[in-house]
Formats: sequence, structure tokens, C-alpha cells
Amino acid sequence: MKTSMRTHDGRVALVTGAGQGIGQAIALALAGRGARVIATDLEPPHETARKIGPEAFALQLDVTREEDWRSVAGKVQDLGDADIVVNNAGYFPKRTIDDLDLPTWRKTMATNLDSHFLSVKYFLPAMRKKKWGRFVGISSNMVGLAIPGMSHYITTKMGIVGFMRGLANDVASDGITANSVLPGLTNTQAISPQSDEQKRGTWSQQAIKRLGEPGDVTGAVLFLTSDDAAFITGQAIVVDGGQYRIG
Ligand SMILES: NC(=O)c1ccc[n+]([C@@H]2O[C@H](COP(=O)([O-])OP(=O)(O)OC[C@H]3O[C@@H](n4cnc5c(N)ncnc54)[C@H](O)[C@@H]3O)[C@@H](O)[C@H]2O)c1
Repeated sequence: MKTSMRTHDGRVALVTGAGQGIGQAIALALAGRGARVIATDLEPPHETARKIGPEAFALQLDVTREEDWRSVAGKVQDLGDADIVVNNAGYFPKRTIDDLDLPTWRKTMATNLDSHFLSVKYFLPAMRKKKWGRFVGISSNMVGLAIPGMSHYITTKMGIVGFMRGLANDVASDGITANSVLPGLTNTQAISPQSDEQKRGTWSQQAIKRLGEPGDVTGAVLFLTSDDAAFITGQAIVVDGGQYRIG
């Protein structure tokens, strides 16, 4: 018997920061498994929706703004409510602790952490009614690496792991799981300022000696958002070719 790959048929999946990079790859991968995808970003990510096809939606959602979450939740209700929320949007300017100022700190917290709380606030009630739901937070393997100038970012990425661990307890009785995925260095616009030598310096520390691609991150997200992962919650899965090895 051939196993169906339509693991996400009938699911509605919202992805933040889906205009490019890892978020776009996740949106495309979820659609490829049958999910109806709501791709969101600071501007409606029309290109991502176009790549998926007419069944996809592109909506504006600044993840730091509660009014945007409220508005998107209202629109998604008309599509049958989200079963899956993948919080992927991220903000990661490099600042040593001497150069880090409060506005940068606060923007990093708002983009990388407030977003997770707000997504739960606006999407949990419908998941509870359906007795099924999946929250996935895109963290980073940097939480376990000695990278200077990223204390604010590492704070938020560790916070995502903590939030998912705590959230898992509060939602489990309604068939809802909460997990995080920790990518390693991944070939997106975000790392384009790095030289090839700098990138090699990172990926040469991995067991799998090549730079990660956005498509490398999608497998963990597909698994965690499927029925196959119904008994897996509060977990953190590292997807970095084997660089960081303590979970
Ligand atoms: N690329 C890497 O090496 C790497 C490694 C580990 C983790 N990550 C994480 O993966 C996620 C995606 O990274 P990427 O490399 O694809 O980044 P990227 O910069 O290519 O894309 C990020 C997307 O998020 C959107 N975004 C930024 N602020 C937003 C906001 N306030 N509201 C809504 N959307 C917003 C941007 O418009 C952009 O489309 C981030 O959370 C990042 O921390 C990336």
C-alpha cells in the first residue's frame, strides 16, 4: 500500500514571516502536504501565495502588533480557523552588549517573543473548540553556541523554547501541542551579509558539512504539525546538520 503524503489535508495553517526564507519554505511545504496556507508578513506575501496557488492567502501581519493579530484571527475565522500556527518571523540584529540599546532590545523581544504569546491569545480558543491544534515556534541553535553580539536574540530564542514547554502543559487536554524547532545557520537573505568564509566557519562545525537550506527546516515542522506527532509536546528539535548536540 502506498502511504499518502497528504498528511495535512483539511488543515488550515498560518505562517508568520512567510514572505521569504525559512517562512516561505515552511508555507510551501505545508501546502504541499495539503494544508490551506495563510501566509503572513509585514506586507502581504503575494509571491509566496502565488507560488502555492489560488488556494493560498496572503495577509499583512506585523507580529508585534496585537491589533494585527486580532484582525488576522477575524479573517481566518471565515476560512474555518487555523489548526496550525508556525511563528517564524524573527528580528536578529547583531549588537554587542556595549552597543545594545533599549529600543533594539524591546524590538527583539516584541518580534521574537510577544508574537508567540499573541498568537496563542488569538488562535488558541478556536483550536480548543476543534480539540486539535499545533503551535510551532522557530527558535535557533544559537541558544547553545558561543556567538558574540547576540545576547538579546539568544534571550528570545531560549524564551521560545521555555514558552513552548510551559504552553504544552496548559493546552494538552484539548489535543493541542506546542514545540519549537531550532535551525542552524540557514541560507536566507538574513545571512547574506556573512562572507562565504564566515558561513563555512559555521557549517564546518556540523557533522553534515554543508550550509543548511530553508528546505532543510521544513521536515521537522511538517512532522510536528502532523497527526504523527500527537504525543510529542513541549519539545525542542534541533535542525542544524549536527552542530549543537545538547537538547
Ligand atoms: N537564517 C538563519 O541562519 C537562521 C538560523 C536559526 C534561526 N533562524 C530563524 O528563522 C526565522 C526565519 O529566518 P530567515 O533566515 O528566514 O529570515 P529572513 O530575514 O529571510 O525572513 C524573515 C521574515 O520575517 C519577516 N518579519 C520580520 N519582522 C516581522 C514582523 N514584525 N512581523 C511580521 N514579519 C516580520 C520579514 O519581513 C521576513 O520576510 C527567524 O525566526 C530566525 O530567527 C534563522
